[in-house]
Parts: sequence; structure tokens; C-alpha cells
Amino acid sequence: MKICYLPGDGIGPEIMAQALRVLDVFKKEGMNIELEEALLGGAAVDATGVPYPEATQKAARAADAVLLAAVGGPKWDVLPRPQRPERGLLGIRKDLNLFANLRPAILYPELANASSLKPEIVSGLDIMIVRELTGDIYFGEPRGIAEEGGKRVGRNTMIYNEDEIRRIGHVAFKAAQKRSKKLCSVDKMNVLETTQLWRDVIIEISAEYPDVELSHMLVDNCAMQLVRAPKQFDVVVTGNMFGDILSDEASMLTGSIGMLPSASLDENNKGMYEPCHGSAPDIAGKNLANPLAMILSVAMMMRYTFADEKTATRIETAVKKVLASGLRTGDIFEEGTKRVSCSEMGDAVVAAL
Ligand code: NAI
Ligand code: MG
Repeated sequence: MKICYLPGDGIGPEIMAQALRVLDVFKKEGMNIELEEALLGGAAVDATGVPYPEATQKAARAADAVLLAAVGGPKWDVLPRPQRPERGLLGIRKDLNLFANLRPAILYPELANASSLKPEIVSGLDIMIVRELTGDIYFGEPRGIAEEGGKRVGRNTMIYNEDEIRRIGHVAFKAAQKRSKKLCSVDKMNVLETTQLWRDVIIEISAEYPDVELSHMLVDNCAMQLVRAPKQFDVVVTGNMFGDILSDEASMLTGSIGMLPSASLDENNKGMYEPCHGSAPDIAGKNLANPLAMILSVAMMMRYTFADEKTATRIETAVKKVLASGLRTGDIFEEGTKRVSCSEMGDAVVAAL
């Protein structure tokens, strides 16, 4: 297993250290894990002047999987756009052709109070949003703001070709097969032709997955249903823009940003795995961050890139065990639980493993 890891900025190095300790457990048990560290984001800007330097490109391309903590922070916000840490993030996603973004939203029973929804609506929630990541209106041409007939006109182009839809569709159907075999495809086919094609192609490929129950929903209804009755969903697949919004909405149903991992995959299941949260500059360097999203990202890496379901489940079980024992970092702390630091949370997961 060739893994390139990118600690990044802010709390990044603190949470990455805990993920590496988890990998070390498996290494000591004899798993063939090869690790290479590289720079991304602000850390890379400081060292080399660019957010996604050549050495990192080389390491990331050569690896089977990339683990990323988080990048960015106020220190670099003054830089021109091409040098900002966030550019490093877009750069590596594009460079590695990571077109499929998988974001689970799971409400752990121990954290039921963290959600803004009533327990009876949200308890037991376990859904997965599959978002297309390299197409749609975010990348379509023509684009820009131009002067036309004495007025400024802003323009973006929503565009998908059938191959792009097909490949994300296959990822979603396969994810559904590994879960409860229900897939909901989200579009806006009543007004947008691009998404009419989306629906047509998803229906075409559904013939290859007779065991998966396929449904369709318009995006505005899906936004409503996610807060009204989120447990009706299992896997949801959608385009880049709708997925951006719906995956953030879904993740917040769980109320705990420090708990949410993600995977971004290419066509060969090479992937980049990272928490959904950012670099949390407000708590950086204080050993306060929740490392569980980072550790759960390692579980996703085992599942999707290395097809090692057993190890993935083992990590997830260890996390559940630690939560059940009452340990909490500040972001998920509530009365009656025990507040621990980032590294103490890491200790507990290692012990549970
Ligand atoms: P953020 O996710 O870094 O922080 C939002 C809030 O959640 C903060 O109060 C923070 O302390 C808390 N938080 C986040 N992760 C936590 C964790 N693991 N444990 C405990 N608390 C946690 O988002 P924000 O503040 O909007 O962005 C900060 C920086 O991160 C910015 O420079 C932004 O551009 C960057 N960013 C990077 C991302 C990435 O690397 N994928 C994603 C989102 C933001
Ligand atoms: Mg977003």
C-alpha cells in the first residue's frame, strides 16, 4: 500500500499524526504499508512558493492513495488566488482526475444530541452522498463576466457528456450494492436539459444493477426531504453543483464537523481521503482538534482503494467503541462525557484497535 500523506496547515499536522498512529498499528501487525510525506497548501507555499509543488505532484501520482488533513488559514488569505492554499486542493483533485466524491453522513448514537433535528427523525442516520467532482457548471465553458451591449453579463455553462455521467453513475451503483442497495439520483430534469441527459444515462446503466432499487428526485425536493425525513435515503448520486450543496446539508444533519470523512476517487479506485472540515485555525496548535474524521478517512481508504473491508470496519468499530466509552474532544463534548485532547483521542483509538 503506497500512501502519500499531506499534513497541510492549521490542525492538519495534529490530526494527521493520529491517523499515522492508526496505520502504525497495522504496519506492526505486518501490513505492507509504505508512507511518503509531502507538502500541500500553505505549508507548501511557505517552503516552495506554490501550493501544489512538483515534488508533491510526483509523490501523489506515484501513490495508490493520498491522505490529506486540511489546508488554508488567514496567514495566506492575502496572497493572489493562484498562490492560495485552496488552489493546491483544486490542483491535486484535477491532477489525479478524482471525479467521484463520496461523503457519508452518519449520526453516531452517542452523539444524537449534536444534531439540530429531533432524535426520532435523525437517529440511526447513515447516508452517503456521491457527488460528481470534475464537471458541471463549475468547469463548463464559456464562462466569465463580459461587457455586452453596455451591460455586464455573467455567464457559466452547465455541461455533462454521457461518459462523465456514466462513470459517476457506476461508482454510485457500486456503492449502493455495498450498502442497503437503494440509490436515489438527484436532478432538475423539469427545467435543465443537462440533467435530463443525467436521468436518461442513469436509467440506462441501471440495467447492469438489477439488485439496486433506483429512484429519482428533483433537487429542490431532495433539499426538503433531507431535513424532513433524511432516513428515507441510502445512497444519493448527483452532479457537481447540486452535490456541493446537498452534501454540506446532509453532513450538518449529524451536527459534528469533526466526525465526517470523505473520499475522492478516480476510475481505478485510486483516491484521496480527507476530513470534510478545514484547518480550524482557531484551535490549531493546541492539541484540541477532533482527529476522528481523519481516522475515519483512513477507514474509507482501506475500503475503497485497498478493498480491505475488514480493516475499514475494524477502524470504524474502534471509533464507535471510543465514543461509547464517553471520550469526547471539545467539538462533540456534552455534559456527562469526558473531555480529551486530540492525542488522547488518538491514544484511545489505538488502544481500541
Ligand atoms: P473549518 O472547518 O476549518 O472550521 C469551522 C469550525 O469548526 C471552527 O470553529 C473549527 O474550530 C471547527 N472545527 C473544524 N474541524 C474541527 C475538528 N477536527 N475538531 C474540532 N473542531 C473543528 O472551516 P473555516 O473556519 O471556514 O476555514 C478555516 C480554513 O480552512 C480556511 O482557510 C479555509 O479555506 C480552509 N478550509 C479547508 C478545507 C480543506 O482543506 N478541505 C475545507 C474547508 C475550509
Ligand atoms: Mg461545499
